[in-house]
Amino acid sequence: MNSLTFLATRLPLIQAPMAGAQDAGLAIAVGRAGALGSLPAAMLDATSLERELRTLQASGLPYNVNFFVHTPPLPDAAREARWHAALAPYYAELGLDVAAAAAGASRQPFSHALAEVLEAFRPPVVSFHFGLPAPDLLARVKRMGSRVLSSATTVREALWLQAQGADAVIAQGLEAGGHRGHFLDKDPALQAGTATLLPQVVAALDIPVIAAGGIGDAEGVRAAMAQGASAVQVGTAFLLCDEARTGAVHRAALRDPQAPTALTNLFTGGLARGIVNRVMREQGPVSETAPPFPLATAALGPLRAKAEATGSADFSPLWSGTNRGGCRAAPAADVVQALSRGFVSG
Ligand SMILES: Cc1cc2nc3c(=O)[nH]c(=O)nc-3n(C[C@H](O)[C@H](O)[C@H](O)COP(=O)(O)O)c2cc1C
Repeated sequence: MNSLTFLATRLPLIQAPMAGAQDAGLAIAVGRAGALGSLPAAMLDATSLERELRTLQASGLPYNVNFFVHTPPLPDAAREARWHAALAPYYAELGLDVAAAAAGASRQPFSHALAEVLEAFRPPVVSFHFGLPAPDLLARVKRMGSRVLSSATTVREALWLQAQGADAVIAQGLEAGGHRGHFLDKDPALQAGTATLLPQVVAALDIPVIAAGGIGDAEGVRAAMAQGASAVQVGTAFLLCDEARTGAVHRAALRDPQAPTALTNLFTGGLARGIVNRVMREQGPVSETAPPFPLATAALGPLRAKAEATGSADFSPLWSGTNRGGCRAAPAADVVQALSRGFVSG
């Protein structure tokens, strides 16, 4: 049996790391309720990472810390200019100066500088999105005693992660909210939903598999465990929780259970699932003009800020999975409790 005993939690349930929507507060609330809380570090610098890790360590709970491991693209002024030109009408509409639009990266990949911060804490679990760090950096994490997880969107990616030394693989189905974790099979046409991907990954690997994507209630948990998952990772269902830092326009969008989601590259340059809004309808949802991950973010920032100030979600990333049935405007412990019923057999 591929058990995930290293999670050291009462439940084989991981709260998905959700950059931009939560900090250590949600992870601790989830941890107290018996599941594994996660700290997303993709948008944290070394100082903020250290502060959040101190808070987590003081809780005495096990936890997961998550990093992106993308290769930063080279700057390209012509490409950036095309992106600014595409957004220029919105800048004019909102009374902003497109010439002042920012460029540059919003998210930094895992690095030796961040590993140095981790070493003081030796986190029980470290997870990565977009593959794994370079072998020397991965070895550094393993020397801390941390167990390593990463997401796969296809069987080929799952096998690669196992071969490179992951301790468990998160099978991320197409229903999942936020960024696709793909790194080898970047065409979503090659990817499948959780119920199809999960059993294939379980059959192909010798290490434990964690199911992610569209799981929002006990029934979803039960189905994933019946298909051979050793644990489940749930993101969207936690977004309305009291302890999440989900912004106001994002919360409002999540409350509409009918609002459709789509994969879009407009907000970061990487494919991610979010609730369809104005900029997605008008520019995409997928645009060839958007610079590669993570460079698309900077130019949308001023539009997003100005629109959000008036309560508009027109330019905001409204990350969400396809299933919002598990979202509750309640303490995170209530969501954990609802999901936990899926682990009871019979
Ligand atoms: C708002 C949001 C932000 C996310 N940010 C991250 C992240 O920073 N790192 C990561 O590995 N996964 C991230 N994900 C993806 C989750 O790890 C996971 O695959 C997904 O939440 C599972 O599907 P579900 O949202 O349907 O539960 C994010 C998901 C959401 C909804």
